Amino acid sequence: MVVLLTGGTGFIGSHTAVELVQAGHEVVLIDNYVNSHPDVADRVGHIVGRPVTSLQIDLLDRAGLEAVFAQHRIDGVIHFAGLKAVGESVARPLAYYHNNLTATINLLEAMTAAGVKKLVFSSSATVYRADNPVPYREDYPVGATNPYGWTKVMIEQILRDLVAAEPDWSVMLLRYFNPIGAHPSGVIGEDPNGIPNNLVPFVAQVAAGRLPRVRVFGDDYDTPDGTGVRDYIHVMDLALGHRLALERLDRPGVETYNLGTGAGSSVRQVVAAYQRACGRELPTVVAPRRAGDLPSVYADPSKAAAGLGFRARRGLDEMCADSWRWQCRADGWTVD
Ligand code: UD1
Repeated sequence: MVVLLTGGTGFIGSHTAVELVQAGHEVVLIDNYVNSHPDVADRVGHIVGRPVTSLQIDLLDRAGLEAVFAQHRIDGVIHFAGLKAVGESVARPLAYYHNNLTATINLLEAMTAAGVKKLVFSSSATVYRADNPVPYREDYPVGATNPYGWTKVMIEQILRDLVAAEPDWSVMLLRYFNPIGAHPSGVIGEDPNGIPNNLVPFVAQVAAGRLPRVRVFGDDYDTPDGTGVRDYIHVMDLALGHRLALERLDRPGVETYNLGTGAGSSVRQVVAAYQRACGRELPTVVAPRRAGDLPSVYADPSKAAAGLGFRARRGLDEMCADSWRWQCRADGWTVD
């Protein structure tokens, strides 16, 4: 297939591009580079051994988007692009609703005009309401506690409504748990702007000496060691999940899948795994709970196993080792 990846130079987009090309698909990456760099496409090309097509396009630019569909014979789309910082979304709700929703509607209209009706959408475990018991199952009720989360809930609904009206569309809603790690080459990885909000990018910068200590947001949760538990999934496993979903877009309708491992790890377990990866003790301090955080979030991965044949294979140590290799290369160090 020729696959258009919106947000194609971002963290998950770039790893999915590698997975798709190595499985024999062609990719067209588009991105506005608001949270990524154009040279990521060169790095993807370096890994796969040939150049990949990459264009600077903002999804709010309808004409630019239509030109992409006119110039490339696109078979399907994976829609990663979107603003994704929870705290920023609370401070700038209109920017989040405008950007994420308008971009998606522009994309769906451009796809309709071009006769492309196969779509994989980047959703999130954040769509599960906080009062659901773990592990989260796809049939649980959805809701959100911040504008970022609401954009995911709303886009899922827009897509369900579209499929109800036009049953020849094929749509996969993929709800990611906590993607971490990097390509094992260390050539691509997560590259957040400024001080990271998420745990593993933060720990990586402590390990690199760029930040002084890891702050553990609460150690009095009702979890085995008192710290927050999440379902971390290696970004290359997540990339595989996207390919499997894409290859099943031959059946019309909308399907929803969790992409997680089904296993939870605590903040302390993540820090311990990262210490094993980088080979030294990392300073940590217990800080107050972060507003809005839940004690424990992990997936029931059985529907993705049955419907997509998807199983995450890589464990926490491999995730941290790959993250650390990428962090070292990004800082110009050598490792191994
Ligand atoms: C966060 C977002 C979620 C988003 C996901 C993307 C919030 C509230 N939720 O999920 O919407 O889809 O990222 O990956 O921001 N922690 C620390 N110290 C830190 C950072 C985090 O102890 O410096 C803890 C948190 O309390 C949590 C765990 O580490 O228990 C994971 O946090 P994080 O990586 O930010 O992910 P989520 O909060 O699960």
